[in-house]
Amino acid sequence: MASKFTPLFLRTAVRSACRVSRPQQTRAFSLSAQRPSDTLMVHRNTPDNNPSIPFKFTEQNEAIITEILKRYPPQYKKAAVMPILDLGQRQHGFTSISVMNEVARILEMPPMRVYEVASFYTMYNRTPVGKFHVQACTTTPCQLGGCGSDVIVKAIKEQLGINQGETTPDGLFTFLEVECLGACVNAPMVQINDDYYEDLTPETIKSLLSALKESVTDVGKSAKKVPAPGPLSGRDTCENSAGLTNLTSEPWGTETTRQDL
Ligand code: FES
Repeated sequence: MASKFTPLFLRTAVRSACRVSRPQQTRAFSLSAQRPSDTLMVHRNTPDNNPSIPFKFTEQNEAIITEILKRYPPQYKKAAVMPILDLGQRQHGFTSISVMNEVARILEMPPMRVYEVASFYTMYNRTPVGKFHVQACTTTPCQLGGCGSDVIVKAIKEQLGINQGETTPDGLFTFLEVECLGACVNAPMVQINDDYYEDLTPETIKSLLSALKESVTDVGKSAKKVPAPGPLSGRDTCENSAGLTNLTSEPWGTETTRQDL
């Protein structure tokens, strides 16, 4: 109410003075690594990925496909597109256009329907990847857990000498940053091919990568042992690293503990 009685020129002057004296506000924001969208969505023929390269499933995989198809009514066999694409990727090394066309032929689907599935799910690699496909989770729990995924990503880049989305010149490693892989409780973590390595530090990830490299390049020599997948911190799974802190005594009341545990 008091301001109602203050002359207009005075109110304007006070407002301008406040505006001038207000400190400059700046907000930093970070971006995830840029990946051109056409890399994800568009197919371009290349010497190692074009429809004239023949692809056939092996006899063993054909037997697996027959088993997979038994899970679905014959009129819905296209429902098997995902496991059969995965099988094709495992056989060929990546989900090439020829793999997708062969899956479409087997399932009697329009090839475009198969392309749509393969380009939607990022686990289908539509370009060749290295022998070890290193996918580092950089979602918030992994960014905040343990030493944080930023230092893990830095360590991977240092060790492999490549950036995100690239493959090492020897074709051994491809590195990618990915979103949550569902192992947040053991953050930070990476997925390498089908295995999860968790509770990482810059030292453990570097030593893991060099052990993987030696397992290929130093066969027969005294190659470093590749650690078993799982937490590399000494934990078995996701138990409290400080030991048992609750449920340490018999429950009170009428409840009893199972004798067989
Ligand atoms: S946030 Fe990394 S596994 Fe979930």
